[in-house]
Amino acid sequence: MKILIIGSGGREHALAWKVRKSRWVTKVYCAPGNAGISQVAECVPVPDHDVRGLLEFARAKEIDLTIVGPEAPLAMGIVDVFKRKGLKIFGPTRAAARIESSKAYAKFIMEKYEIPTAKTEVFTRPQDAKRYIKNIGGPLVVKVDGLAAGKGAIPCEDEIEALKAVDRIAKGEFGEAGSKILIEEYLVGEEASILAFSDGRHVIPLESAQDHKRAYDDDKGPNTGGMGAYSPAPVITKDLESRIYDEILLPTIRGLASEGCRYTGILYVGLMITNEGPKVIEFNCRFGDPEAQAILPRMASDFIKPVLACIEGKLDKVKLRWSRNCSVNVVMASGGYPGKYEKGKVISGLEKVGAESSVVFHSGTGYDEAGRLITKGGRVLSVTSLAPSIQDAIHCAYQEVGKIEFEGVHYRKDIARRALYHMEDM
Ligand code: AMP
Ligand code: GLY
Repeated sequence: MKILIIGSGGREHALAWKVRKSRWVTKVYCAPGNAGISQVAECVPVPDHDVRGLLEFARAKEIDLTIVGPEAPLAMGIVDVFKRKGLKIFGPTRAAARIESSKAYAKFIMEKYEIPTAKTEVFTRPQDAKRYIKNIGGPLVVKVDGLAAGKGAIPCEDEIEALKAVDRIAKGEFGEAGSKILIEEYLVGEEASILAFSDGRHVIPLESAQDHKRAYDDDKGPNTGGMGAYSPAPVITKDLESRIYDEILLPTIRGLASEGCRYTGILYVGLMITNEGPKVIEFNCRFGDPEAQAILPRMASDFIKPVLACIEGKLDKVKLRWSRNCSVNVVMASGGYPGKYEKGKVISGLEKVGAESSVVFHSGTGYDEAGRLITKGGRVLSVTSLAPSIQDAIHCAYQEVGKIEFEGVHYRKDIARRALYHMEDM
């Protein structure tokens, strides 16, 4: 099979790396890809939002299956376009992708189908949102409805902060995404991510993971696209796994189906494990980044089989196998990220990353005119290490990270430390 992967980040590198291992696969293309991805796939210079260009490419190369990494092309309806032309593509339709592209729609589904989540009110007029905030007081979370590159949720300690957040949205900081404002109850607990394959009727959860969104150690500093991840997340016990399946995954997929939005693809659930049980913080309509870099290296089964089963509505025939090893993924970012940062720094030491159980996934890398590997984005690359215990995986990942250098490099030193606290509790 000839596969096209759409996207250019660490998630897409992990996807390309995993897809290439499948015995069904003869050729992998990635649009547009990056320097690291070019080592496992042929990169083609078509941007991920150029739906027409991607369609032309897929037709010209007779692609058998397209796998979409990021949310933007899904929200634009790339799956609808490819399907209309008779091309196989993995991901939800535009209507089903609203579960991520509209937080108000996600809340509508959760309320209607009684899926546990934070209490929320949706407003179209900022003055109404403000009146509501003054009534209930803080802490609370102010969110914009639409896609905002992970920056659309503003946690607020008190009423003053929340009112300021509404002003920022009203002034247009989030553009069209801010045309509806959500005011949410502030949930307390530990976060975790559960991703699942879905064919619209059946769901198969992947192994759990935990992301690290804040820029600095001890969850300090601004939110980022994700500074690292690990899998499994010990906060997700066996009991919680089945509650999440029964109370969240299945009712969401069934709810969407009865709304006429059969959901095919990866459903990502961002969870808060509260005292009352698991509650949904957000849905994403795709693999998480960096969760994909922690989860896919643990997947022992072929990746193409469940993907095709999702598209064909036969997911009930599939069983996934997983490595017993734990994984730890540490992201190396440009100094200053997620604020201002410089690009073009030469990356060295990759050839020293030797541990067989480690793999490097690139996010923002490229080549300069001299053919040297350079930084090209905020998140530059990441190392995933696998080991029988989370402690060993942490040790191994940081040992490998220590071998890679570029000017201004920043990475968190505490990835997966929270998992160790759980071990102490056991
Ligand atoms: P979102 O963009 O909805 O994924 O939110 C980004 C981050 O904001 C989450 O990962 C949480 O850390 C935090 N967050 C969002 N909603 C809530 C909530 N209702 N209660 C507490 N924290 C939240
Ligand atoms: N890691 C969170 C996300 O991919 O949105």
